[in-house]
Amino acid sequence: NDEFSIGKSAQERGLPYVPDCYVIPPSERPDENTETSKDVPVIDISGLRSTPHERSLVVKDIGVACRQKGFFQIINHGISQSVLDEAITAASNFFELPKKYKQEFMSNDVAKPVRYGTGLKDGCDVVQFWRIFLKHYAHPLEKWIEYWPLNPPDYREKMAHYAVNVRNVAMEVMGAITESLGLGNSYMSEELEDGMQVMAVNCYPPCPQPDRVLGLPPHTDYSCITILLQTGQGLQVISTNEEEWRLIPDNHGVLHVHVGDFLEVLSNGLYKSVLHRATLNSEKTRYSIASLHSLGMDEKVETAKELVDEQHPKGYKGSSFRDFLKFLSTNDIAEGSSFIKNL
Ligand code: SIN
Ligand code: FE2
Repeated sequence: NDEFSIGKSAQERGLPYVPDCYVIPPSERPDENTETSKDVPVIDISGLRSTPHERSLVVKDIGVACRQKGFFQIINHGISQSVLDEAITAASNFFELPKKYKQEFMSNDVAKPVRYGTGLKDGCDVVQFWRIFLKHYAHPLEKWIEYWPLNPPDYREKMAHYAVNVRNVAMEVMGAITESLGLGNSYMSEELEDGMQVMAVNCYPPCPQPDRVLGLPPHTDYSCITILLQTGQGLQVISTNEEEWRLIPDNHGVLHVHVGDFLEVLSNGLYKSVLHRATLNSEKTRYSIASLHSLGMDEKVETAKELVDEQHPKGYKGSSFRDFLKFLSTNDIAEGSSFIKNL
């Protein structure tokens, strides 16, 4: 059905309402009165590079946030505001290009290293989501960058700059996380060194009826951690210690970190991957760049044996990114976490 084809949202066609194929069942619709989360842990990670004492305090805060919330935000991460801003500008410039520049990246094949599209699966037999995205692999950069868009002309340079910076932050944060689990800060470093970095660059156009649609359905991320850069509010989470959806505030220059499925498996459930979704607004296009950090394509994530004992039996099966992609090609993203979590 070409009417709803990729890159042509109802908004772009000036519709005052949302076409049926975007409308989700009433019980799954976002409540416009969703409260903003009041206790988002905001962690100054410059302390990770400070004295052992300072570092241990930050590691502890990160551990508490992972256990109690499943997410946290980081400040003083060392990525300059201009690098963040230029990545967002590169993203928005890409989405604003005429269709002919984007079409070549369109694919339903979830295993493609660069992919452009709308919705999680295309075709109107399933509910569409109010999102346009570009996904690309980013590590090792020299392997993947040649597949990235050549237009806009500075896309590669600007996005690569952010990709490298955010990956360094992810490594640093993962070191602190494994340390907080008592595994030491280099427990995962080799695996992560050879690991995957997938960047999901998202565009959520304004929506005439934001209470009837979602930008992304509830899901957990298939990563160790995901680092999210966003413009404006829209991200909602159910934290580990709560049962309600909460809107996550977007503060300038702050990066948002999600515990992903791999970390849940690694930690034997001590840290749970966090359920989240993207909601819309009627005024302003929102952009986000999610950088997912995981192990190598065929590397199975296993529960740390140090975290398994009689009181804490192993609760997860190991699996790899490739297993997940195989699963995703025939299943919905919303089922993704059940795949890894069931023994
Ligand atoms: C994501 O879940 O990958 C993105 C969420 C968002 O755009 O806020
Ligand atoms: Fe996500």
